[in-house]
Amino acid sequence: FSLRHLNTFGIDARARHYVRITAADQLAALLGEPRLAALPRLVLGGGSNLLLTGDFDGLVLHMASSGREVVGETADHVLVRAQAGENWHAFVEWTLAQGFGGLENLALIPGTVGAAPIQNIGAYGLETKDVFHSLTAFDPATGALATLDGPACRFAYRDSIFKHEAGRGLIIVDVTFALPRAWRPNLRYAELANELANELANELADAGGKEAANAVANAVANEQANAAAGQGGAQPTPRQVADAVIAIRRRKLPDPAVIGNAGSFFKNPVVGAEQCAALLERHPALVHHRQEDGTVKLAAGWLIDQCGWKGKQLGAAGVYPKQALVLVNHGGASGADVQRLARAIQADVQARYGVLLEPEPVFV
Ligand code: EPU
Repeated sequence: FSLRHLNTFGIDARARHYVRITAADQLAALLGEPRLAALPRLVLGGGSNLLLTGDFDGLVLHMASSGREVVGETADHVLVRAQAGENWHAFVEWTLAQGFGGLENLALIPGTVGAAPIQNIGAYGLETKDVFHSLTAFDPATGALATLDGPACRFAYRDSIFKHEAGRGLIIVDVTFALPRAWRPNLRYAELANELANELANELADAGGKEAANAVANAVANEQANAAAGQGGAQPTPRQVADAVIAIRRRKLPDPAVIGNAGSFFKNPVVGAEQCAALLERHPALVHHRQEDGTVKLAAGWLIDQCGWKGKQLGAAGVYPKQALVLVNHGGASGADVQRLARAIQADVQARYGVLLEPEPVFV
């Protein structure tokens, strides 16, 4: 069975067995079969965070379940649940259409709802863990469903229990999010604040209020969205924030439907304060962000860019010209081609900065 259309890199690898899962109870029936349960297993959602390095001699479970609903509310939150196979961006759009803010910073991320908690997808100052309530997972070892809350998922930067021994076998069936009733825009990410400010200014300018437009633009740029609400009456809505996110992503990231890729190919490396200070002495322009725990996150895209890799190609695999953190398939690349390119980049960044870049997608 060809997996070519089931991974966003568009790698043409094959699987020995393939089953499309549309309801959770199929899992118990299927994996209750000792012969099937014994096969190596690959659980697939949108295939947007994996690199197929060869054919898969096992059972692919393609999570294609659908359904999304409001399941309850607390004093501060609305609880919304989606089945694992739902497309992530379509789910974000659905919550916005229902009038619920909270997921807008994560608009346009490829993949499915069920995959979101695995790498704790994040963008523009928000991570899954910030809006997560709980999830249901099928445990093939017991044949039963279990509910996991946030702490049980052990979320961290692009990481969770599902990427480690303790949780790797679990199959996520549905995910519940807690969306705030009292929504406030999350504009911590300066690039997003600027984009939104421009968007609002243009809207207001169209409506004729140049001065009000500038006031709002400045307020939003200063991450004072609430103050902006009082000036000129143009309060950013979740929809407007989503549109700003979508605009940035369209500009910088390749659409997997057009050019194969898996988003950021490397995680942004985290180093100690001392190492960062030493690096800054030699490279004053080093892009870095201090974390609450005292460590410093470096921009992998910047490191790769500085090594001259942006837009370069090695065989059919290449570095996206507008964002060095993204590796792309220019057509017909194999998983091995992408790996070769990734290793060459790692070696250069290591030699120049002494930092080892860790791949973000899962290698299969
Ligand atoms: N930069 C360069 N050259 C490049 C790319 C980036 O100099 O080719 C510099 C930028 O100028 C900027 C810094 O590096 O100063 C950071 O770049 P950017 O803001 O584009 O974000 P990122 O660190 O490259 C991360 C996530 C993205 C997420 C954005 C926005 C990781 C590994 N990646 O990218 O996530 O959308 O921030 O929050 O954390 C993904 O995981 O697939 C993904 C796209």
